[in-house]
Amino acid sequence: MDTTTCNLEEFKKEAKRFIHELAPARGATVVGLYGNLGAGKTTFVQAAAKALGISETVNSPTFLIQKRYPVNSLETPGSHGAGTLKVRDFETLVHIDAYRLKHSRELQALRFEELLKDPRNLILVEWADKVADILPKDHIKIFFEFVDERTRTLRFT
Ligand SMILES: Nc1ncnc2c1ncn2[C@@H]1O[C@H](COP(=O)(O)OP(=O)(O)O)[C@@H](O)[C@H]1O
Ligand SMILES: [Mg+2]
Repeated sequence: MDTTTCNLEEFKKEAKRFIHELAPARGATVVGLYGNLGAGKTTFVQAAAKALGISETVNSPTFLIQKRYPVNSLETPGSHGAGTLKVRDFETLVHIDAYRLKHSRELQALRFEELLKDPRNLILVEWADKVADILPKDHIKIFFEFVDERTRTLRFT
């Protein structure tokens, strides 16, 4: 377990570091983002998108539930050491906000199972606890906590 408490600038660097250190997965890479409103989940996704070379503005998909962004392989850096996945191996960033879902069935209706199978997908799920029953058991979990206006704690598992 890796815990860090940081300001906004450091928080964004943590997101970038996280993206570059992701190990390859057999299916999609699934990351559950846990924490209350304002804890920094969307901010983390935005910084991750930037690290993936996505120039499109990433907003909270609360009303859309799910939004996909093509990863721009040309703008992303290359290899990051043996055994780690090159960020350009991802083709699509899938941003999900489960806040408004009453049941995980609603996410399944959005062809979620298919997304899970494809190793080219990086799936970041806000309010992951709402759909935990359909996420892979071994998905990566990041817990966010509000400390004060300028400070958040991130806990990686
Ligand atoms: N150290 C920090 N780390 C992350 N976000 C911070 C930090 N300090 C202030 N913030 C602000 O907190 C807010 C977090 O909101 P958001 O990312 O939308 O949270 P969530 O998606 O968890 O509801 C943003 O406006 C962000 O700029
Ligand atoms: Mg959010």
